[in-house]
Amino acid sequence: MSTATRPRGRLDGKIALITGGAGGIGSGIARAFAGEGARVMVSDIDGAAAAGIAAGINAHHPGCAASCAHDVTSESDWNAALAACRQAFGGLSVLVNNAGIWAIGAVDDTEPDSWRRCMSINLDSVYLGTRLAMPLLRENQPASIINVSSVAGLVAGPNIAAYNTSKAAVWMLTKSTALSAARKGDDIRANSIHPAFIATPLLQDLFARGGERRPLSAEQTAKLAAQIPLGRLCTVEDVAWAAIYLASDESRFMTGAELKLDGGLSAM
Ligand SMILES: NC(=O)c1ccc[n+]([C@@H]2O[C@H](COP(=O)([O-])OP(=O)(O)OC[C@H]3O[C@@H](n4cnc5c(N)ncnc54)[C@H](O)[C@@H]3O)[C@@H](O)[C@H]2O)c1
Repeated sequence: MSTATRPRGRLDGKIALITGGAGGIGSGIARAFAGEGARVMVSDIDGAAAAGIAAGINAHHPGCAASCAHDVTSESDWNAALAACRQAFGGLSVLVNNAGIWAIGAVDDTEPDSWRRCMSINLDSVYLGTRLAMPLLRENQPASIINVSSVAGLVAGPNIAAYNTSKAAVWMLTKSTALSAARKGDDIRANSIHPAFIATPLLQDLFARGGERRPLSAEQTAKLAAQIPLGRLCTVEDVAWAAIYLASDESRFMTGAELKLDGGLSAM
C-alpha cells in the first residue's frame, strides 16, 4: 500500500532500534511497530535470526525493516548498530533496550561468572546503549527510550538473585535517565515495562532440562498462571501494545514511569 493510501499509523515517522529483536518479545515489538508505521532496526547477537525477522516484516511492509548483528555488551557493536540506523533510516527516535537472559540461582549458589554475565547483558547494556544513543536521539526529538525490565525487577524471588537485581537496576536507571534528559531540556522520555511470565524461549530456559529448550507443558503453564491474579500468562502482544504507546507521542507526558504488565501480581 502506498503511504498516500495507507491509514495513519500511531508510529508514523518513528525510527526504532530494538535489541534482542530476534527473540520472542523483541520480534513481536518489531512487527507491531512496523504495523503502526515505524521503521525498525532489528538487532540481535544472532544476526541471521535478526535478518529473518526483518525479511518477514519487509514482506508485509516493504522497506520498513533492516537488521544488524549486535552484541549489546559490546561498545563497538553499539556504535555500528547506531551507524546502521543512521545509514538505513536517517536517525533514531525510539530505543528499545530489550535483550536479556535468565540467571537462575539463589545468591549463595550464583557463581561470579554467572552474576557478571547477567549484569553485563541485562544491565550494563542498557547503560551503554542509552549513553551511546543519546546524541542520535537528541537529533530526532521527540524521542523515547523503552527499557524492558520485568515484574522480577519489582518483586523478588528466592532463586533468581542476579536476574532480580539486574532488572531492579534497569528500573532505577530508567528513572535516572528520564530525570537527566528532562533537566537538560531534551524531549527524550524514558520508561520501563515490567511483564510477568511470557511463553518465550527465555521462559523455556527456566524449565530446560539438560540445556534443552522445550515449549512449556500445560502443567507448567497452569502452575505459572496460578500465580497471576488475572489467571493467565502475559503475552508478547500485551507487551507490544504497551511499547507502541510508550514509543508514540500519545505518551508524551509520561517519563520515568513503569508500566506493569503482570496481571495484578505485584499488587498483592
Ligand atoms: N519471557 C518472559 O517471561 C519475560 C518476562 C519479563 C521480562 N522479560 C524480558 O524481556 C526481554 C526479552 O525476553 P524474551 O522473553 O523475548 O527472551 P528471548 O530469549 O526470546 O529473546 C532474547 C533475545 O535476546 C538475544 N540476546 C541474548 N544475549 C544477547 C546479547 N548479548 N546481545 C544482543 N542480543 C542478545 C537473544 O539472541 C534473543 O533473541 C528480556 O530482557 C527479558 O528479561 C521476559
